[in-house]
Amino acid sequence: MFDGVAPRYDLLNHLLSANLDRSWRRRALARLEENTRARVLDLCGGTGDLSIELIRSRRAGRVVCCDFSHAMLQAAAPKLQRLDLSERVLRVEADGLELPFPEASFDAVAVAFGVRNLADLGRGFGEMLRVLRPGGKLVVLEFSRPTAPVLSGLYRFYLGRILPRLGDGISGRSGPYGYLARTIGEFPAAAELAGRIRESGFAACEWSTMTGGVVAAHTAIKRGASAPA
Ligand SMILES: C[S@@+](CC[C@H](N)C(=O)[O-])C[C@H]1O[C@@H](n2cnc3c(N)ncnc32)[C@H](O)[C@@H]1O
Repeated sequence: MFDGVAPRYDLLNHLLSANLDRSWRRRALARLEENTRARVLDLCGGTGDLSIELIRSRRAGRVVCCDFSHAMLQAAAPKLQRLDLSERVLRVEADGLELPFPEASFDAVAVAFGVRNLADLGRGFGEMLRVLRPGGKLVVLEFSRPTAPVLSGLYRFYLGRILPRLGDGISGRSGPYGYLARTIGEFPAAAELAGRIRESGFAACEWSTMTGGVVAAHTAIKRGASAPA
C-alpha cells in the first residue's frame, strides 16, 4: 500500500494536514535532548521527513531511516541529496517487527505516524526496546482523537467523508486513505497507548496532545544506568 502512494505521499501529507505535519514532527522531537553525536533510529521513516528534522534540530548526528517500503525510501533519496544529508541519514529497508540491528545500537528511537501501521504493536515496541541503549529515549508521534464534543464531531466528519475522497483522488489509488481514516478511528487513544508502551517494558512514559488531540506525542525511557526504574 505504501509503495503505491509513495510518489504523492509528501504532497498529500502536507495537504491533508493543512501543513501541520511539519510542526507536529518538530514539536515531538523537542522532547529529545539536543545531541549532535546521537545515533537515532527513525522507524517507519518513509520519505525521510522525521530523519531530516532530527538532523536539522540537532537531535541526532546520524540517523538510520528504516522502513519496509522500498518506494517510500526511494522517495526520501532526492530530498536527502538536495540537503546534502545522504551520508548522515542511512536508509535501511527492513521490517520493524524484526529489526536487523544489534541490541542497544541507538541512543534514541523516533517513530512518526508509524506505530498505527504495525501488524503487532507489542512486538514492534519490543524491537524498539531491544535496539535502544539503556537510558535511551523513545519518541512516538501518532494520530489520536480529539475529545471535545464539537471538534470531535468535525474531525469524525473530516475523517469519514473528506479525507478518503481527497486522498484517493489525488493519489490515484482507491483504498489507502480510507485505511488511514479507519486506522485512526480504531487505534488506541493516547492514554491507552501509554499503557501499551509501559507494558512493553519502557519506563517513565509521558505524553501530550497537539491540535486539540488530533495527534499525540509519547516519550518513554529504556531502563538502565541513567534511567529511572
Ligand atoms: C504513514 S507513513 C509515515 C512515514 C514517516 N514516518 C512520516 O512521518 O511521514 C508509515 C510508514 O510506516 C511503514 N511501515 C509500516 N509497517 C512497517 C513495518 N512493519 N516495518 C517497517 N516499516 C513499516 C510504511 O511503509 C510507511 O512508510
